[in-house]
Amino acid sequence: MAELLNGKELAEKMQAEIAAKVSELKEKAIHPGLVVLLVGEESASQVYVRNKERVAKAIGLYSKIKRYPSSISEKDLLAAIQTYNQDPTFHGILVQLPLPEHIDEEKILLAIDPQKDVDGFHPMNLGRLLTGNPDKIPCTPYGIMKLLEAYNIKIAGKQALVIGRSNIVGKPMAQLMLMNDATVTIAHSKTKNLPELARNADILVVAIGRGHFVTKEFIKKGAVVIDVGMNRDENGKLIGDVKFDEVAPLASYITPVPRGVGPMTITMLMYQTVMAAKVGE
Ligand code: GUN
Repeated sequence: MAELLNGKELAEKMQAEIAAKVSELKEKAIHPGLVVLLVGEESASQVYVRNKERVAKAIGLYSKIKRYPSSISEKDLLAAIQTYNQDPTFHGILVQLPLPEHIDEEKILLAIDPQKDVDGFHPMNLGRLLTGNPDKIPCTPYGIMKLLEAYNIKIAGKQALVIGRSNIVGKPMAQLMLMNDATVTIAHSKTKNLPELARNADILVVAIGRGHFVTKEFIKKGAVVIDVGMNRDENGKLIGDVKFDEVAPLASYITPVPRGVGPMTITMLMYQTVMAAKVGE
């Protein structure tokens, strides 16, 4: 039976350390600030943003949510980002995704000052990650690396399979695994024989957004299984991309959903915001 990778527990420990760092900065008259730009009324985004604000306040950050109607023009949103780029109150700027169809996400992410891009989504920060000189790193993959490190899980020489190729999880995850000397495969919707491919993986990271997609047929005995999924089942219950009950008996380590990857994502966001503030120390 797998040992649980307890993201909630590690997140709480790291948040206490980050809170101590915030107190230190405040003594030097630096108050780390994070502004979250939320466009529209999407319910999942509302929940994510509220959770981020709750944690930000708990660790002593100055946190502000700026809400905009889904009808806001791209030009006005770009202007808002310019305002926050120039506002020294905020060391971190986060634009919650997804954005409405009429707004070009790439243009918006490019407009954020890379130094304030605490999500790590700016092409400059993604490029730095790719070339091996990272500054800001996308928070979900970063949090997963911290979780593996905390449980002393070795990566070098391992076969890692990342299922999902998004810019914010799959691709940066694969790159972080590569930087830590894993042999990395990225699978996606066109991949053939996925269960067979997955059975070669010592470390399996699943980020496809389909509830209970990964079954026991995907699992090599003793594999480390990381579930990034946050889906609702037909009863509205939060479920991962992995069928936990049948996978856990085969795995050596597994993240639960909830209380696995999610709390680590938020924690790394706070960490990168405080680090951005520390630059002005
Ligand atoms: N949408 C889903 N996850 C995220 C995230 O980590 N950051 C932002 N900005 N938007 C998201």
